[in-house]
Amino acid sequence: MDELHADTWLISKGRPQGLGEPLNVPPVMASNFRLPHERYYSRTEGTETQGALEELIGGLEGGRTLAFSSGMAAVACLFHGLAVGSTIALPRDPYHAVNGLATEGEAQGRWSVRRLDLADTAAWVSAAAEADLLWVETPANPLMTVADLPAICAAPRKPGCVVAVDGTFATPLLQRPLELGADVSMHSVTKFIGGHSDLMAGSLTVRDDALYDDLWNRRVRNGGTIGGLEAFLSIRGARTLGLRMERAMANAQTLAERLESHPEVAVVRYPGLPSHATHTNASKFMDGYGAMMSFDVRGSGERASRVVEHTTIINNATSLGGIESTWERRALIPGQETMPPTLIRFSVGCEHVEDIWSDITEALDATSGA
Ligand SMILES: Cc1ncc(COP(=O)(O)O)c(C=O)c1O
Repeated sequence: MDELHADTWLISKGRPQGLGEPLNVPPVMASNFRLPHERYYSRTEGTETQGALEELIGGLEGGRTLAFSSGMAAVACLFHGLAVGSTIALPRDPYHAVNGLATEGEAQGRWSVRRLDLADTAAWVSAAAEADLLWVETPANPLMTVADLPAICAAPRKPGCVVAVDGTFATPLLQRPLELGADVSMHSVTKFIGGHSDLMAGSLTVRDDALYDDLWNRRVRNGGTIGGLEAFLSIRGARTLGLRMERAMANAQTLAERLESHPEVAVVRYPGLPSHATHTNASKFMDGYGAMMSFDVRGSGERASRVVEHTTIINNATSLGGIESTWERRALIPGQETMPPTLIRFSVGCEHVEDIWSDITEALDATSGA
């Protein structure tokens, strides 16, 4: 990434440079281009807007990026490149759509899945000798476990075994998996990189040219290429990622500490708390603890529902990583029924921390005894 700091890179790169050109690459809304030209169709070569987004993310991560129409389009592109009969190592509680994809492929006989405790590094190290894909989601959604990525990446591997990391919660600002030895870094750009809950997008970043070409070709065939408007909005969001993360992380740390000592809260899972089971991994392998947490309220699942419905600043909504705070009772999301009934997943936004805190305490007070 040249010698620039990441924040500067995000603000200054991916811009047209010629005299008289606009400062921002415009949203190129075209499916096809006049020939002869190397770019002829948007699903194949993409648009200039897509190229600028890929330059931004790739520079941060230290690799070549492919942008997709969603995070899951990116994940599916990678999984569907596995040879029939492959083995995938997966965390026990991965993002639920990834779990669905893996389970479906297993049922169809495409691959077999080994489910491992993300915090059990030894299990991942031994899986590397037998698996074709290690899918490491870190920090994990929504239990916030942070893996020992360098140890997992350094494990002796079966030839051809790929280590892929879903770092959506961390963003490339806080965690750069390729630098830690992974082969693929994946993001749901829908979340923090986009940052405004107004788009769907995903990315895969790799260093290996053969893997890049393989993914590029499969993206063409699967049709997961990002649209021009989504690429434009992703770039616009990414410009302020540094600023947003700084504020949201400071808010998250304060709120996690206060929640942890609140009598109506049973447990708080935030990697920035010394009490968190994988706090040490987060301190060693991340450049900040992020803006995601989950916590359990005391009482029943119904009480947790009433808490998330009570607030006026924090939105009761799924998804995460927006400038606005969102939270949800995770066990109500299809595919997440195994989560503790009282668990609230909280994406901390950039509002004033005292306003968020008042919103939370009012909701806890109003529902106490429920
Ligand atoms: C950790 C994680 N990975 C992947 C995804 C999928 O991304 P998308 O919704 O952009 O397809 C999500 C979405 O919530 C996620 O939280």
